[in-house]
Amino acid sequence: MNKIKVAIVGCGSISKKRHIPEYAANPNVELVGFCDLILARAEGHAQEHGGRAYTNYEEMLRVEKPDAVSVCTPNVLHAPYAIAAANAGAHVLVEKPMATNEADALAMIEAARKNGVFLMVGQNQRLMPPHQKAKEILQSGKMGKVLSFRTSFGHGGPEGWSMDGRDSWFFRKEEAIMGAMGDLGVHKSDLIRWMLDDEVAEVAAFVSTLHKAGTDVDDNATCVLRMKSGIIGTLVASWTYYKGGDNSTILWCENGAMHIGTHPV
Ligand SMILES: NC(=O)c1ccc[n+]([C@@H]2O[C@H](COP(=O)([O-])OP(=O)(O)OC[C@H]3O[C@@H](n4cnc5c(N)ncnc54)[C@H](O)[C@@H]3O)[C@@H](O)[C@H]2O)c1
Repeated sequence: MNKIKVAIVGCGSISKKRHIPEYAANPNVELVGFCDLILARAEGHAQEHGGRAYTNYEEMLRVEKPDAVSVCTPNVLHAPYAIAAANAGAHVLVEKPMATNEADALAMIEAARKNGVFLMVGQNQRLMPPHQKAKEILQSGKMGKVLSFRTSFGHGGPEGWSMDGRDSWFFRKEEAIMGAMGDLGVHKSDLIRWMLDDEVAEVAAFVSTLHKAGTDVDDNATCVLRMKSGIIGTLVASWTYYKGGDNSTILWCENGAMHIGTHPV
């Protein structure tokens, strides 16, 4: 069987920690290209896994003709890079947030449809075993109806995660567009819709920059949601949980409460 030729654009933390090792461990995949504005980052992966290093994304698509591309760049490039991959005939795994506005997201879907390729968004929280188990229990009906929820994701901020630390694009509004809400809140917005099999009907929120200096993206968001079914709940995203992160969800149901990912705190 021919291997699936995969190329990566954006050789920062998420590609280094998740995308690249997982492709490398898959016997059906050949990593053919790595692209980053900082050539040394792309070269490091090419030396380790084979394939070629690029700083020019269009050139990588043209030369390597990948079957699939992982888009792991700053948020504002997700839509143009996903659309370019689809137009080059490649399936796309684009990191979250899918896009930075609705029109771009719709254009991505249209590009995938037009070119007959898959478009997948890296909403990996759906795949976490506690979340899968919770969904299975909900679907069994044992808990009865969900009446309300609280879902939250917080840590000390991207300076402890991004390849560029405090100088990261995560803090530049023109590249990130959103802060904690686009980074962590988007995981919980997706998770709660998926878990409850419901859509958000109404939302109210306070979204602020409380503590990070030198940035105008939000570092905290607290939202109140009403779902189409009538369930109400809260969603919190934070980059200022310096002394103890949180990635947890509680569902209060007719027959009990499900505490998901709350232990250890
Ligand atoms: N699914 C998850 O749980 C998860 C976790 C972390 C990050 N992410 C997402 O992954 C994406 C990347 O985040 P990260 O944490 O790897 O960031 P990072 O700062 O560690 O890395 C970003 C990389 O992109 C490169 N880059 C910037 N502009 C580029 C361009 N025009 N062409 C090619 N490369 C370019 C930078 O040089 C850097 O190496 C973000 O959208 C983020 O939201 C998802």
